[in-house]
Amino acid sequence: MPASILKAYNLVKKYGDLVAVNDVSFTIEEGEIFGLLGPNGAGKSTTIAMLSGLLPPTGGGATIAGMDVARETAKVKQIIGVAPQELALYPTLTGRENVRFFGELYGLRGRALNERVDEVLGYVGMLERANDRVQTYSGGMKRRINLAAALVNHPCLLFLDEPTVGVDPQSRNHIFESVERLNREQGVSILYTTHYMEEAERLCHRVGIIDRGRLIALDAPKRLIESLGGGVIQLSLPGADESVRSAVAALPAVRAASFLVPEGSNFSEAGQTSTAGTHRKAVLKIEVVHSNEALLQVLHYCNETKLQILSLDLLEPNLETVFLNLTGKSLRD
Ligand SMILES: Nc1ncnc2c1ncn2[C@@H]1O[C@H](COP(=O)(O)OP(=O)(O)OP(=O)(O)O)[C@@H](O)[C@H]1O
Ligand SMILES: [Mg+2]
Repeated sequence: MPASILKAYNLVKKYGDLVAVNDVSFTIEEGEIFGLLGPNGAGKSTTIAMLSGLLPPTGGGATIAGMDVARETAKVKQIIGVAPQELALYPTLTGRENVRFFGELYGLRGRALNERVDEVLGYVGMLERANDRVQTYSGGMKRRINLAAALVNHPCLLFLDEPTVGVDPQSRNHIFESVERLNREQGVSILYTTHYMEEAERLCHRVGIIDRGRLIALDAPKRLIESLGGGVIQLSLPGADESVRSAVAALPAVRAASFLVPEGSNFSEAGQTSTAGTHRKAVLKIEVVHSNEALLQVLHYCNETKLQILSLDLLEPNLETVFLNLTGKSLRD
C-alpha cells in the first residue's frame, strides 16, 4: 500500500452563516491523481486554499507528507505547487519573467534558476512564446504559464484548481499531457478540481464528488459509474403524481424512482403539487437494473395508464449521471 501524501480530516470553513466546506475528510496517496468534482460554489477552491496553507480552517485540519499544514506551513509550501483558479501572473512581464519570479521566491539563482525555468516552460509547451508578454497570450497560454510557475520548485504534491476553464483545445491537450507526464514520469501526486466530468474520468485515479461543501461520494471513476447499475432513465410526465412514482419504482427492472428538482424552482423531492394533486412539470428520474427491460416496462405502464410522455432520455452511464443521481441536479449550471 502506498503511503498517503495528504490527509485531510474533518475540514470545515464557515463564512458567517454559510458553511462553504462541511466536514470534508479524504486522503491522497503517493503518486495518485485525485479529482475533486463539483458544481460552482461547491467548495473546491476553499478546500484547496485550506490544504495549501492559504486559509485557516474553521475546524479540522490536514497533513502533507506528515507535516501539519497549519503549524508547519512554511515547510509544507516548499514541497507543494499551487496553480490557483484565479491566475496569479503579471501581465506586463513575459511568461519567462513570471516563472523566474516564482523560482526566485523558492531561492533558486543563477544557472539552476535558468535551467529550471527552461525545463518547466518546456514541460507546458511554452518555450516558443516564453519571451512575449503575458498580456499578449490566449487564456490557455496563461493557464500553461500558471502551471509552469507551480512546478518550479519540484513539488511532490500539485494543486490544480480548474486548470482548463476558458482554455482552447490545444492548450487543454497540453495541460492534460503535462499532468499525465508529471504523474507518470516523476510520480507527482495531484489534486485536480474540475466541473468537467470527462476530465475527471480521463485523468483521475479516484474522484471525490463535492456538493454544497459536503463530500458525497468518493471512489475510482469506474466504480462510481458501476454503482449506477443499469443506468438512469429520465422521463418527463406532466401528469405524474406520487402514485405514478411508486408504481414505476415497483416495476421489476427498476431500482428506484424519484422526482427531479427542476432548474430555478423551489420544487422539492417531496414535490409541489397542483390542486389536482399532480406535478405540473414532473420529471421522473428512474434508476434501472437493466435499461432495455426497464424501458419496455416503463413504456408499457405509461401506455396502460394513459400517461402522456413529454420526453424520455436514456442517460449515458458517466460521472455526470452519477452526480445527477446523487444530488438530483446537473453538474453544469
Ligand atoms: N471570501 C469569501 N467570503 C464569503 N464567502 C465565500 C468566500 N469565498 C468563498 N465563499 C463562498 O463559499 C462557497 C464555496 O466557494 P468556492 O470558491 O470554494 O467554490 P468552488 O467549488 O471553487 O466553485 P467554482 O467552481 O465556482 O470555482 C461559495 O458559496 C462561495 O460563495
Ligand atoms: Mg473554485
